[in-house]
Amino acid sequence: MKTILVNIKTLYTSKQIPPVKGSSMKEIVSIDNAYLVVENGLFQAIGSGVVPEKYLNDAVIVDAMQACVVPGFVDSHTHLVHASSREHEFEQKLAGVPYLEILAKGGGILSTVEKTRKASVDELLHQARKSLQHFLSYGVTTLEAKSGYGLDLETEIKQLQVAKQLDKEGPIEIVSTYMGAHAIPPAYKQNVDAYVTQIIHDLDHIYATGLAEMVDVFCEEGVFSIEQTTRILTKARSCGFGIRLHADEIHPIGGGRLASSMQALSADHLMALPRSDYEALANSLTIATLLPGTSFYLNKPFAKAREMISANMALAIASDYNPGSSPSENFAFTLQLASNKLGLLPSEVLTASTINPAFSLRRHEKIGSIEVGKQADFVL
Ligand code: NIG
Ligand code: FE
Repeated sequence: MKTILVNIKTLYTSKQIPPVKGSSMKEIVSIDNAYLVVENGLFQAIGSGVVPEKYLNDAVIVDAMQACVVPGFVDSHTHLVHASSREHEFEQKLAGVPYLEILAKGGGILSTVEKTRKASVDELLHQARKSLQHFLSYGVTTLEAKSGYGLDLETEIKQLQVAKQLDKEGPIEIVSTYMGAHAIPPAYKQNVDAYVTQIIHDLDHIYATGLAEMVDVFCEEGVFSIEQTTRILTKARSCGFGIRLHADEIHPIGGGRLASSMQALSADHLMALPRSDYEALANSLTIATLLPGTSFYLNKPFAKAREMISANMALAIASDYNPGSSPSENFAFTLQLASNKLGLLPSEVLTASTINPAFSLRRHEKIGSIEVGKQADFVL
């Protein structure tokens, strides 16, 4: 089937080879009075003005009515699959109880873990499906989904199976990440190393199921140390997983530097990234993924995005959608925060929400820009 979208006011896309770094992030191609030819789900032609005769045969013509077109958004950091919500913690946070203190007392991530362990597959499917409908309404066409609310193999697999099922249902394409190292399960509180060893042991099995492409670790003071994170990610990489980190979110413990030295696909949060680590990230292929929604909801400082761009780092923006620190699927709001609070130009936001996150999900040859031969994911 062939569809031609005509009468597009302006089409905007990156056309660069990722990772797109520093001042290149604002380089966006724009085509006025554009048309798009889509055949069998792929972009067949992109142009301006009158559509050439050769494309018109058997085509369905759709009038964009002077709307603009951008590539489908890629949200490369979410905790999509979980049970219930945590609005009851909001008042504690307003009263000034720190996020890590709520977690240390068995709340936060651990309270979602309790509920997710008890939830049926159908309940998890139902809740996540609703979230995906919201994401789609904001133009997200690819989304990364982490496990990490099980902290035991059975529940982690249950979450990954839910994500797999939702990926099959479409239309949003889901990239799954195993995040057993999201928090320390209460049973291992006195012996975190034993939990790390357990995760390392489970990685072979998880890889063999084909349910996850990536592994992520919450590298943070009081959660997983640099040494423990290194052990998990070294094994993950040797299994064939792509690796990602929650890095330097609250305390600057060297997560960003570790990500660059291990060639992680992504280092995420980075609100506390020390300036002395900018260069290491700028010289790597690791995408620095900033999550302004989390700063907003936790009332924390925003990452120093302008400094990072000046230092030639490659940035992505993601929602971090989760029930605690970023309980919103409103990706338009996430992108607005990226401009208003991180200071990114709209052109930089576009790069950071399309081609750079696609690269961090190892999908940049297929999605993330409007170019001939790529999957026809676009937003009107
Ligand atoms: O990215 N920082 C750790 N993990 C999530 C929060 C998950 C939760 O609070 O449930 C994050 O912010
Ligand atoms: Fe997160």
